[in-house]
This record gives sequence, structure tokens and C-alpha cells, in this order.
Amino acid sequence: MREIVILGSTGSIGRQALDVIRRFPDKMRIAGLAAGRNWPLLVEQIREFHPRAVALAGEEEARELEHHLVPGELPEIFCGSEGLVAVATSIDSGVVLNALTGTMGLVPTVAALQKGLDIALANKETLVAAGELVMALAREKGAKILPVDSEHSAIWQCLVGQPQNRVGKIILTASGGPFHKEPADLSRVTVAQALAHPNWRMGKKITIDSATLMNKGLEVLEAHWLFAVDYDQIEVVVHPQSIIHSMVEFVDGSVMAQLGLPDMRLPIQYALSYPDRWPNELPRVNWFALGGLTFEPPDTERFPCLALAYAAGRAGGTMPAVLNAANEIAVEAFLAGGIGFTRIQQIVAGVMEEHEVVSRPVLEEILAADQWARQKALEKARG
Ligand SMILES: NC(=O)c1ccc[n+]([C@@H]2O[C@H](COP(=O)([O-])OP(=O)(O)OC[C@H]3O[C@@H](n4cnc5c(N)ncnc54)[C@H](OP(=O)(O)O)[C@@H]3O)[C@@H](O)[C@H]2O)c1
Repeated sequence: MREIVILGSTGSIGRQALDVIRRFPDKMRIAGLAAGRNWPLLVEQIREFHPRAVALAGEEEARELEHHLVPGELPEIFCGSEGLVAVATSIDSGVVLNALTGTMGLVPTVAALQKGLDIALANKETLVAAGELVMALAREKGAKILPVDSEHSAIWQCLVGQPQNRVGKIILTASGGPFHKEPADLSRVTVAQALAHPNWRMGKKITIDSATLMNKGLEVLEAHWLFAVDYDQIEVVVHPQSIIHSMVEFVDGSVMAQLGLPDMRLPIQYALSYPDRWPNELPRVNWFALGGLTFEPPDTERFPCLALAYAAGRAGGTMPAVLNAANEIAVEAFLAGGIGFTRIQQIVAGVMEEHEVVSRPVLEEILAADQWARQKALEKARG
């Protein structure tokens, strides 16, 4: 029986992960759950999955949770960022599924890796901000990083049994998001329009990142670290149908692709079942209903965030953490109605310009760069 901890159990990935785990009661059991503010949903999850340890963002939510459970149902309750670490390290073996949003996922990932635990990683911001450090720690501790992002799961699946040094390039597919074709002027798009993703139902932050193409940029950085490929070997291709989840071109020109319906339960299940595959009842591709599969180059003039991410990756050191933190603040400001859509890219570019890169940073330097970038981005969003 595999013990699983889910950080971010009340979110889009967290809920879908619980749906996967619910289907395999003889293979996995939930040992720990962590959420932010949604204590009512966490109460339901505790009643169904009986974790030993849980965490919530604040003490008030933790008190509410305690009041709504009877003593026999009560797990150990933690809160705050220490609570995330406590739950992440509450098992001795098994998998920690990190489905938190943003850099808050970094410290609990590092803590779990230090204990030698495998990480099923949805929280791409962890690798964007601290890819070198996280991958080195995983190697040192003999822990696996199991990709959950559908694109990285696809690449991982294409690479099974292949010689790593024979990869020519990685082809990351992108849906193009809600503004792929129009409107021509993106400065006036509303929050509701930006949240209306054509193919995927996801949390708000990643949905806005998909609309700006920053999500694809973050995925380029994630792929660089996960698969040890240069930025020149990572190509982004817009594929609006989201059926091919990504591809690998080998040095002999042969291309392997992984296909499936856009349903995150599939990559979540693969990360949890790896190296096995388990039968399931998820919907299958109906080839005759698909119509065509199409491919286009991304428009980096309309969507400069993708180019900013490549630039941050090539600059290296603390720059990707700065890109990521500035983007988190800019996206929050956009969602709160404080800035327009195209200000997101301007704020990120402005903060990156002011940053002096620290090369080969340790964790504290990454967290300091993250805090610095948040402050700078806030000033720009308010100004
Ligand atoms: N959704 C997708 O389809 C998808 C696909 C690929 C990759 N990803 C990646 O997966 C990650 C999660 O995305 P998502 O869409 O699932 O996000 P989401 O729906 O916004 O969920 C975020 C989770 O984090 C929790 N959280 C927020 N603040 C917290 C805090 N201070 N302390 C503890 N927990 C906190 C939330 O709890 P509350 O809701 O209780 O506040 C929620 O459980 C992101 O890195 C995203 O890029 C997502």
C-alpha cells in the first residue's frame, strides 16, 4: 500500500488526485492533506480519506476544522508554512503530491526530498525557481521527481526505455489559450475572458498563465531541469486541440508523442502508478470525432511572456525565481482588477530588468530574490 500526501488537496489538481486515489483503494492510502482556506472541503476529505496529519493556511481555519470534526475523526492539525512542511514530512516512505500554486511549494518540496521522499510534482513553480537545487537534492537523496504536468508527463512517457543522450529536442505543445486568435488588442480583455480556457478547467493562476503563455514559459524551464536539455533543444508548438500532450524528437529524426484527452487524472495516475500502468474507466479518445490535429508557431510578439521565460532561463541563477515571483504578483493584481492584462508582461519584464542575477544560488538566496521580486512587482502594479 503506497502512502500519499497531497499538498493543495482542495485545489483543481488536489481534487482530481483524490478522485484517482478513490478508484484504487487497494493500492494507495492518504496519509496527509494540506489546504489553504477551504476548511469545509478539507472536513469532507478528512471524513472520506482519514489522513493522520492535515494542514491549513491559518489558525482560524484550523480552529474551524477542529470544531467541525468529532474527536474520533480528528487528525493531527498543523498550520502555516511550517504546517506544509510538517505534513509533507509526515510519512517515512511513499509519495508527496505537490499541488500547491506558486513558490510556496518550494520549501515543503525541499523538506520532503531531504527525507528521501518521492515527489509527484504539479507545482511547476518549484522547479522554475530552484530547479538546479531541487534536482541535485533529489539525486543526492535518491528520490524521484515524478512529473504531473501533462506536457512533462508526456515527455517522460516518451523517454521510457530511450537513451537520454539521444534526445534531439523536446517539443512542448501549447493550446494557445483563450486569446490564441483574437482579440488583436489584448490590453482590454477582462478577467472573465482570460479565465475561459478552451480545453482545460484549472485553478485561476495557471489559467491566467495559460492566457499570457507564461504557463508555457514556466513549462520550458521545468522541462530544462526535469530532462536535462538545453533551452535551444526545447521548442514550443501551438496545438489547439490539446490531444498531443508533447513530443520528443530523437537524434535520428524519429518523433515520439503521447496522446490522450485533456484530463489531468491521466498524468496524475501515471505519476502515482509509475512504473506500472493501472486500468481505469476514464474517457477514451474517439479518433473519428476528433477532426484534425493542427500545429502553429507561437506568436511571441502578442505573448512576450514566453520569450521572457526563455530569457530568464538563459540568464540562469536567481532570474527564473524573479520571473516567477513577479508573475505571481502581476497575475494576482490582474485577478483583483488592479491592472490590465498586458500589464502582466510589462511588470515581469520591468522587474527582470532591474534584477542583478546571483549565480548558483542557495535556497536562502532564491527565497530572497523571490521576496525582492514580489516587492518590486507590487510597487509597479500599484504605480
Ligand atoms: N489545474 C491543472 O489542471 C494543472 C495542470 C498542470 C499543472 N498544474 C499546476 O499545479 C499547481 C496547482 O494548480 P491548481 O490549478 O490545482 O491550483 P488551485 O486550484 O488554485 O489549487 C491550489 C491549492 O493550493 C492551496 N493553497 C493556496 N494557498 C495556500 C497556503 N497558503 N497554504 C496551503 N495551501 C494553500 C489551495 O487551498 P485552498 O483552495 O483551500 O485555499 C489549493 O488546495 C500549480 O503549480 C499549477 O501550475 C495545474
